[in-house]
Amino acid sequence: MAGARPGGPAVSASLLEVRGLSRWFGGLAAVQGFEIAVAEGQIVGLIGPNGAGKTTIFNLLSGTLRPSAGEVRLAGASIVGRAPEAIARLGLARTFQDLRLFRRLTARENVVVAAFCRAPNSLVSWTFPRHQKGLAGFARQAEELLEFVGLTDKAGDLAMYLSHGQQRRLEVARALATGPRLLLLDEPAGGLGRMESEIMTRLIQRIRASGVTLVLIEHNMHFLMPLVDRVAVMNFGRKIAEGTPAAIREDPEVVAAYLGTAQARARA
Ligand SMILES: Nc1ncnc2c1ncn2[C@@H]1O[C@H](COP(=O)(O)OP(=O)(O)OP(=O)(O)O)[C@@H](O)[C@H]1O
Ligand SMILES: [Mg+2]
Repeated sequence: MAGARPGGPAVSASLLEVRGLSRWFGGLAAVQGFEIAVAEGQIVGLIGPNGAGKTTIFNLLSGTLRPSAGEVRLAGASIVGRAPEAIARLGLARTFQDLRLFRRLTARENVVVAAFCRAPNSLVSWTFPRHQKGLAGFARQAEELLEFVGLTDKAGDLAMYLSHGQQRRLEVARALATGPRLLLLDEPAGGLGRMESEIMTRLIQRIRASGVTLVLIEHNMHFLMPLVDRVAVMNFGRKIAEGTPAAIREDPEVVAAYLGTAQARARA
């Protein structure tokens, strides 16, 4: 919750604050009046049926899409209308539901390229000899991140030859390479088998332990519910509920709209 200190600037207790966020596509309200506050250190889940507006919310937060209306604050700073690169530099990173790796680059190269986003210089200037030390730093950081996500032995492999689970973890390493405070993961367990899901669960727990705040979109309730502190539920572009996993599981409107449906049951 934001509050005004008497005589001082507005103070924000939340890392992420979203108010009245809306996006129309022609006559379709993909997201309407979405509100959420995420405190530093939390993991928040975002669930709902296909087409409910979850990915659109990530697109609006990360600057890929411009909101039709609403306010988004990251660590107190308004980020609406800023370019995705600027928002990334302010500490927000995200992964994509449909995996957006450079398929013909190695795992290591994928992470190094992502790290450039945080660099103050243009991409071309990194070819100058005076930046060689900086480049070595990126390479070292890439090795550390690949180790963190368990892909050290795949560092030299082309991304396209990694398994689906390995590719999902490489996406997480790429997102972490920009040094985020807030990480948005769009279906991190999508298409994963049980063993890879468990590896992803532990990875997300270690990311939180490292001080990063997370928002997760997921259809796999078995994966999501034990991980999150709170869940927000979307349906037809609107948030219909928010609460602890236990409260959300019992919410009749959520059960009717999503949790009791064949789609959610199939993935639980
Ligand atoms: N760029 C776009 N142009 C037009 N319509 C869009 C666009 N992006 C999303 N939509 C529409 O907005 C609605 C919300 O889509 P969104 O991708 O956010 O859903 P979702 O909750 O992520 O669904 P899923 O669980 O299937 O990934 C859908 O009706 C979708 O067709
Ligand atoms: Mg989606």
